[in-house]
Amino acid sequence: MDPEWLLLILIGNMSISFALEGLLGPPYPPSKPECHIPCDEICGVDIHCNWNHRFDPRVSTNYSLHWETAHNVVDHVNTGTSLSGLIGREHFSMYSELPVWVQAESKYGSAKSQVVVFNTGNLVKPSPPIFTRSQQDPLEISWKSICNLQSHLSLGSCDVRFRNEVEQFWREEEIGGQVNYEFSGPVRPGLVYEFQVRCSCATGLKSNWSATHKIMSFETAPTGQIDVWKDCGVSATNNDCVMTWKKIPISQAHGQILGYEVKLSSNHNMTELVNISIAEPRGLLVCDEHQCYLNSSLKSVSSASVLAYNAHGATMHSYLAIPEPGKARGEDFINVTMNTENLTISWDPSFWLPDAKSIDEYVVQYKQAGCHLGKGFDWIRVNKSCTSVTFTGQFEKYRPYQVSLFTVRANQQSHHISSVIGYSSHGIPAKVPLFKVNSIAATHATLLWEPVPLDMQNGLILYYKIGIHGKTHGKTVYNVSASPQDGNKTLELLNLSANQEYEVWIQAVTAAGPGANVTTSFITTQPEHLELKSKSHLLAFLLLPAIICCLLILFSFHKGADKACLCINEKVPDPYNSTIFKMTKYRMNDTIPWIWIPINEPPPTMSILEVVEIQCPVCEQDCLSEDQTRPAAPSKRCTCRTNRYSGDEYREMVDSEEEKSAGGGAGRDDCWSSSEEEQDMSGYEQHFMPTAVDILNA
Ligand SMILES: *[C@@H]1O[C@H](CO)[C@@H](O)[C@H](O)[C@H]1NC(C)=O
Ligand SMILES: *[C@@H]1O[C@H](CO)[C@@H](O)[C@H](O)[C@H]1NC(C)=O
Ligand SMILES: *[C@@H]1O[C@H](CO)[C@@H](O)[C@H](O)[C@H]1NC(C)=O
Ligand SMILES: *[C@@H]1O[C@H](CO)[C@@H](O)[C@H](O)[C@H]1NC(C)=O
Repeated sequence: MDPEWLLLILIGNMSISFALEGLLGPPYPPSKPECHIPCDEICGVDIHCNWNHRFDPRVSTNYSLHWETAHNVVDHVNTGTSLSGLIGREHFSMYSELPVWVQAESKYGSAKSQVVVFNTGNLVKPSPPIFTRSQQDPLEISWKSICNLQSHLSLGSCDVRFRNEVEQFWREEEIGGQVNYEFSGPVRPGLVYEFQVRCSCATGLKSNWSATHKIMSFETAPTGQIDVWKDCGVSATNNDCVMTWKKIPISQAHGQILGYEVKLSSNHNMTELVNISIAEPRGLLVCDEHQCYLNSSLKSVSSASVLAYNAHGATMHSYLAIPEPGKARGEDFINVTMNTENLTISWDPSFWLPDAKSIDEYVVQYKQAGCHLGKGFDWIRVNKSCTSVTFTGQFEKYRPYQVSLFTVRANQQSHHISSVIGYSSHGIPAKVPLFKVNSIAATHATLLWEPVPLDMQNGLILYYKIGIHGKTHGKTVYNVSASPQDGNKTLELLNLSANQEYEVWIQAVTAAGPGANVTTSFITTQPEHLELKSKSHLLAFLLLPAIICCLLILFSFHKGADKACLCINEKVPDPYNSTIFKMTKYRMNDTIPWIWIPINEPPPTMSILEVVEIQCPVCEQDCLSEDQTRPAAPSKRCTCRTNRYSGDEYREMVDSEEEKSAGGGAGRDDCWSSSEEEQDMSGYEQHFMPTAVDILNA
């Protein structure tokens, strides 16, 4: 390698290590040392010192403890990496001044702490006191200290500190040379109080704080009321709800809550009293850390209340606010923003100002969709002047949370203002469960799809993206609004070309992007006039079995009972192949005799007659009953059973009215398979049937 290059690399390496050293530099100075002579069962004689140091863990640092004796001799002990050291009894004289400091040293330099001057006669530090006795009412504690037990020592002064489980901070009192303490402040009932104590001997340092001693103060009856609400899942109907309540705060429980008493009144004025002990919930009571619910449906419950009891009494009954009938007012009233930790709901009360006077408070609730009743649910009651509430917790990603706002009046009537779905994070939605072409004409078609179900949306669906592609059409993409979220959706495609194949696809789109593609295709029909003609043929097919049956029945009536079974065994000409019956559709409402009126049609020429076997009994029955009772009901269905087209299976025949509304498109579910319908109509024109007159004469 070129020597100049080598030099450059060397210089480069050196400058990097110089830069590192400059960055690291000498260590920080350690803290001042703290020193004492420990005194447990046996009192020690050496001075123990310890200190703190902020050091760079990448650089190994060593410490040394230094002191100056009465004769101005400086001595030290190396402690290695340890942050404590010991000055042996032989290095100092008792009851004299001893300056002490610490030095830290690394390969980048050294640093010295401040110097502390100790009086070696004043360094005795006793071990913490030990509790010997306590009582609950009044709150009182006693302890013993090592200072009393060592013959050469006596007790100096003690400090007591205390707190209860509601307050998190300690309060401290200096009490002098005592070994017991009676709590003199106001005692709150049913709370756990914690005590610690520390003492010094007559000379020397205070001990560390003792271990914590806990005492439960005396209990009284609970006060206040339970915050009770109901969880009805995410469904709009609150038929199936459970009663749920917040555990009563410790500050109101005044002792250990033993159980709950629930009163349920039904619509029939029956009142049921349920006493559930926490020790034996019998499956009725389910509690987590913060709330409980009654594992029983509120169906047919008209009023409900709950109270909590401890060994000394009970709270007042809390009544569940019963919702007023009526629908929520819409989604626009509340605004939800959420992430995985915070869920914030805000609202503008000016929307329901007329009601505002009678509003007592708001209840804001959220429910994680897909959770059982009583789970994934929380609520907050807020003052009527509030316009926003934030829940904190862990909100799962891609899961729908239904957030609802209720107003509650003084008379415990609640009103559901609004609900919206929120997500802490949006994901890619699943594909739509159903996408099909609902109707097809020559120049237009209607698409139909089912919205993605809530549990598969993974995020708020912003819109559905629908694309269409045809040979002569190019590619067009439509955005279709996703709201309302329920019910099937349709899109009408206009300006299509006749007899042309199109491909269509759909994707649900959330903030995270579009979901999977669902594709289908269709072919537009012949131009309009052809289409009409084929439709009327179709109608004729559908009506023919009915008409034939009726004709035959009438005919047999006319001719006498001996001919009634004509249709059962005999082969009859296939009537479907004639245009005669096109006309019949419009006469169905008329009375029976119209059939005998000759139809104004050019006399048919005989040609090959197609013969089929029709199983009359089934048809006969249906035709008679249907036609006689409800001659023209649009929802009428006639069940036909034929061997020829569908073996022995039953199929539904959709009547002509339905046929029209369904638009003659794909997906029809009638007696006739769609392949039949697509047959070439012109062939049928050659086929024929005897006229009504022929039948009569037979
Ligand atoms: C409920 O049950 C507990 C324990 O079984 C009992 O002490 C208490 O008196 C009962 N409460 C009522 C109101 O009956
Ligand atoms: C939730 O709100 C708290 C308080 O405003 C905030 O400190 C925290 O960062 C928020 N969490 C997230 C994930 O935004
Ligand atoms: C559909 O919406 C997306 C996102 O808002 C937009 O980029 C696109 O242009 C829209 N397409 C149509 C056809 O409106
Ligand atoms: C959806 O599928 C169709 C047909 O396969 C295709 O033409 C279209 O580009 C796809 N759309 C997306 C966004 O992948």
